[in-house]
Amino acid sequence: MKFTIKHGDLEKQAKAALIVGIFEKNQLTNTALRLDKASKGYITKLIKQGEILGKIGQSLLLRHLPGSVSEHILLVGCGKKQPMDPKDYRKIVANSIKAIQNTSATQAICFLGEMEVAGHDLSWNVKQTVEVSSDALYRFDEFKSEKAPKSPLKDITIAIADKKSVNACEKALAQGIAIAESVSFTKNIENQPSNICNPTYLADQAKKLAKAYKTITTKVLEEKEMQKLGMGALLAVTKGSAQAAKLICLEYKGTSKKQAPVALVGKGITFDTGGISLKPADGMVGMKYDMCGAASVLGTLRAIAELKLPIHVVGILAAAENMPGGNASKPEDIVTTLSGQTVEIMNTDAEGRLVLCDALTYSERYKPEVVIDIATLTGAVVIALGAHASGLLSNNDGLAKDLLDAGTESFDRAWQLPLWDEYQDQLKSPFADMSNVGGRSAGTITAACFLSRFAKKFKWAHLDVAGTAAMMGGNDRFATGRPVPMLTQYLINRSKK
Ligand code: BES
Ligand code: MN
Ligand code: ZN
Repeated sequence: MKFTIKHGDLEKQAKAALIVGIFEKNQLTNTALRLDKASKGYITKLIKQGEILGKIGQSLLLRHLPGSVSEHILLVGCGKKQPMDPKDYRKIVANSIKAIQNTSATQAICFLGEMEVAGHDLSWNVKQTVEVSSDALYRFDEFKSEKAPKSPLKDITIAIADKKSVNACEKALAQGIAIAESVSFTKNIENQPSNICNPTYLADQAKKLAKAYKTITTKVLEEKEMQKLGMGALLAVTKGSAQAAKLICLEYKGTSKKQAPVALVGKGITFDTGGISLKPADGMVGMKYDMCGAASVLGTLRAIAELKLPIHVVGILAAAENMPGGNASKPEDIVTTLSGQTVEIMNTDAEGRLVLCDALTYSERYKPEVVIDIATLTGAVVIALGAHASGLLSNNDGLAKDLLDAGTESFDRAWQLPLWDEYQDQLKSPFADMSNVGGRSAGTITAACFLSRFAKKFKWAHLDVAGTAAMMGGNDRFATGRPVPMLTQYLINRSKK
């Protein structure tokens, strides 16, 4: 899809489908007003007849509106005339694009940008229009014999009424496109089944990125090297699998200045059976998505490389498959981590923290200023926050605030949970320095407590994306590409400082 912004007299562009907002109580947006005038009150008549009331979620497709050259005009309900809630703006854009996609229109001109959204400016509308449209149009039918018919829609133009905003909107457009494309890229990796997407596949994706962007380099550590280094925790997870684990390291250098990097560490369990602590069959569905943290690191690096941000970022993907087997780790096994601390593996299904703790310690080599790990780590975070917010835990309040703000700005939100010392006690083991589980209560927090013991040397934040990175239940299973928008926004904001 091609996205552009344009200022000027756009209603007269023949062929293009127009997406135009109307409010409740017969109130029209500026564009709707102009069309109403040209059609001698046709739109007001429709509203009076009750064909459309202007409520959020409603729309009405008009063909050949009198006085207009456009073949298609989509009237879109925008609710009461007042600053709109961000979630409603996203909803009307998604619905509109889906409706236009089902017509024969090849170009759409979207006038919804003129909507006032609470807490945000026009640039935000532009950026979100791109991201939401791209999301609404996303398909993954690689494995379908019959592909979805290609929509004739090729071009979405966002109308900008105010000429003074064009420059800022141009910038927002570029960011929106980079994020939208990188989210699709991320989803494409995430949606692969685990018989294709294994640790080697993830390493290949990293190498492909390094080939596509000369600002990115990559290096892959094999099991032998990990053994030599002493990554006993990561290797304990892969022992039952026929697939070779990989520690995939990427480096993005967008500046020649020496700068302590931000390290993004992703959980890359390409399938999580639970291991010897085997998951029940129903609980195993969705576990191909247990590599979403790792995929989001790839996607974020892609986005910042597209945007050529002048920063230094490292990506580390801890990639392994968690399987049972004659050689697999067992409950009560004790391993020594790269940090030297020992762990009693009380539950082999708490494998994410085992691969991440060694990856966190490994990240010290890059002398990072900030480390953020991203992981589908706990079922508990799905119970606590559902699909709307990622769990955020951090040893630094400034970093936590920056991430929360980036989440609000990108509408890819997180909610902070406490990382108080009191919770650390739940990780006691009678035999090793710690257990890898802390019992049923506060499962998301004790998982983060475990990781915090390997993150003492830097500012660190943990994003538990088990509820947000993918929808895993029922027949409607799909990846979301989150938290690529939040992380990219965080890095955009950081590059401005
Ligand atoms: N990958 C799972 C977490 C998960 C659950 C992600 C549901 C997405 C949806 C993780 O490895 C896991 O199994 N966690 C256990 C930890 C427990 C054994 C302490 C869990 O949450 O049950
Ligand atoms: Mn698990
Ligand atoms: Zn897992």
